[in-house]
Amino acid sequence: MTSGIVWAAYLVAAILFILSLSGLSNQESARRGNVLGIAGMALAIGATILGNTLENYPLVIGMMLLGGTIGVMVSMRVQMTAMPQLVALLHSLVGLAAVMIGVANQLDNDPTAAFAGVEKTIHLVEIYLGVLIGAVTFSGSVIAFGKLQGIISSQPLSLPGRHFANIIIGLACLLCGYLYLTAGTPEAEILPLLVMTALALVFGVHMVMAIGGADMPVVISMLNSYSGWAAAATGFMLSNDLLIVTGALVGSSGAILSYIMCRAMNRRFVSVILGGFGSSGNNHSVAAQSGEAIAIDHAEVAQLLATADSVVVVPGYGMAVAHAQHPVSELTRILRAQGVEVRFAIHPVAGRMPGHMNVLLAEARVPYDLVLEMDEINPDLPKTTAVLVIGANDIVNPAAQEDPGSPIAGMPVLEVWKADHVIILKRSMAVGYAGIDNPLFYRDNARMLFGDAKDSVDELLQQLKAT
Ligand code: TAP
Repeated sequence: MTSGIVWAAYLVAAILFILSLSGLSNQESARRGNVLGIAGMALAIGATILGNTLENYPLVIGMMLLGGTIGVMVSMRVQMTAMPQLVALLHSLVGLAAVMIGVANQLDNDPTAAFAGVEKTIHLVEIYLGVLIGAVTFSGSVIAFGKLQGIISSQPLSLPGRHFANIIIGLACLLCGYLYLTAGTPEAEILPLLVMTALALVFGVHMVMAIGGADMPVVISMLNSYSGWAAAATGFMLSNDLLIVTGALVGSSGAILSYIMCRAMNRRFVSVILGGFGSSGNNHSVAAQSGEAIAIDHAEVAQLLATADSVVVVPGYGMAVAHAQHPVSELTRILRAQGVEVRFAIHPVAGRMPGHMNVLLAEARVPYDLVLEMDEINPDLPKTTAVLVIGANDIVNPAAQEDPGSPIAGMPVLEVWKADHVIILKRSMAVGYAGIDNPLFYRDNARMLFGDAKDSVDELLQQLKAT
């Protein structure tokens, strides 16, 4: 294949990636977006293999078969609730690849032999930045995986002098960069590059360990962005135009997502990333729990729903765990058939990944026009007869508005307590991902429907069908 054809194939692949991102921005076109992304990637891989830059075909094809088989096996087995962890793990692999390619380039031969003057310096900077971003992405994503998987506590690690440590690491990386660029020989460049790699790995671990559970959405989208920039840097190292374009697309869309997440959570990006830098650092709630949580049974809830004018369903992570989306969809159909207005309220960080609840509701064929964003539904909640909170906790916690000492203080939440009745479906009084108590459960108009969310909704369906 001539380089002109390869270049044309890369251009078409890049256009397909852009169309894919545009498709993924909306749940109705998300399926098409996925198909376009797959087509773009198939074209990119095909053009790279058939282009004239590869030498060892058996090795490349063998590696692709091995990687592809592992990928298919993992994706066939992964539960929907474990997708965020899988994505974090995949980000870590992109970071690791950037580190390996950068270091291998350096160890193998003189990576700048073909360059001189300013071009040589630019190429060295590409390698240095690629390894730096890759190392932070790798170790940060591994810690994010541990936190999402529950292997590592979601509580923030607040080491004394942590901001000072971050500044020292940053300065040391700058110094290593200076030594690397001025070393003069490939052999002398290796030590500062390896020292910086170790420092960047430590920084990635420290950065994500310092972030509390409620702020994890920003970190996940940020690591997504970093993985894109790491891929773009790898593209520069390998002089591969498509990798540069693709990495830049992922990097910039991840950055936009991080901005959206910060706005949704009313957080400053810098203060989240630096683990509360610039905030008061007071993570202790001052609000004492008062009153008693009151349980309700299925028959009473079914009666309330059947006689309600309007019902708002708030899905959360527990709905995903319980796989309750299909009975919830059936419940919606039955209530609407009985003349009850039913709508869904989606918090931007509900579940464990952006759009998590939208995906589940789309899978259960809940009509899109019933699914509203937080800003759209909040003004209607005071006029709502009953809110069903299904496996959600942090996103309906009034402490965000009422307790300035809470770790989620200032985060916009769904104001479900303003409805006439709030029914909370969960298994126990356990806390959510942010690890904090929820005063909602003790409100006069709140009732707890204890049990697995799917079992509870199945039982409600039985009761409603029997009436
Ligand atoms: P959470 O606050 O995590 O609460 C989920 C609740 O579901 C738990 O309190 C749990 O209580 C209940 N639950 C679990 N399994 C259940 C089951 N089988 N049946 C019924 N209930 C069940 O979820 P949320 O309200 O969706 O908030 C999301 C949280 O995750 C936020 O803190 C957010 O910042 C964080 N986060 C979000 C993301 C993204 S991008 N969305 C990423 C990382 C972290 P029981 O154990 O008592 O049942």
